[in-house]
Amino acid sequence: LYDGPGNSNSFVHVPMNKARIAIFASGNGTNAEEIFKHFLHHPSIQIVLLLSNNPKAFALERAVRFAIPHLVFTRRQYGEGNEVLNWLREYSVTHIVLAGFLWLIPDALLKAYPDRIINIHPALLPKYGGKGMYGMKVHEAVKGAGEIETGITIHVVNEHYDKGKVLFQTKCTVAPTDTPDQIAGKVHHLEHTHYPRVIEEWIQVGGR
Ligand code: GAR
Repeated sequence: LYDGPGNSNSFVHVPMNKARIAIFASGNGTNAEEIFKHFLHHPSIQIVLLLSNNPKAFALERAVRFAIPHLVFTRRQYGEGNEVLNWLREYSVTHIVLAGFLWLIPDALLKAYPDRIINIHPALLPKYGGKGMYGMKVHEAVKGAGEIETGITIHVVNEHYDKGKVLFQTKCTVAPTDTPDQIAGKVHHLEHTHYPRVIEEWIQVGGR
């Protein structure tokens, strides 16, 4: 499971003043891929690692295609955050980007990366946020409530699900005939359009 730094020499050649991002993803990884593409030739920001709690996450395949080192961790390894923290240190990770990652961030990681962890949520927080609100469940709830608009929220991560400082929000309409899948499509489009750029701006102003 540990596809460690031995599989990539890239970190050896990178000047240490670069921002070095680890992406955490639990599923498909379309956002992760947009982020890989955006930073492919970036002069000062590099994606150095993709981490997942899910060995079947398609995000891992995407990392392989982009030659980005990837690791899968178990609940135990994630636990207090120390094992994952050691890996992040091994890769000199400076910032963490959550892209469809479903587990709460442990205290050890929050302390090691204060204001250096960012998340995207597929709704207009504080609506449709919190534990258990992720992916299609969010879009089904939006549909069920008869909302006429939804959107995305990009925020800094703290110890509560979906409660950190909001950095960016934008909206899309929900038509009465839209299915949850169609809502998901609109929201994904917003995510892919904005998340890479907002990550870049957040890092360039000091990651806060
Ligand atoms: C995205 O819509 C993201 O906002 C959401 O999971 C999806 C992952 O899609 N995240 C959450 O719901 C977190 N609470 P992707 O794997 O295709 O990037």
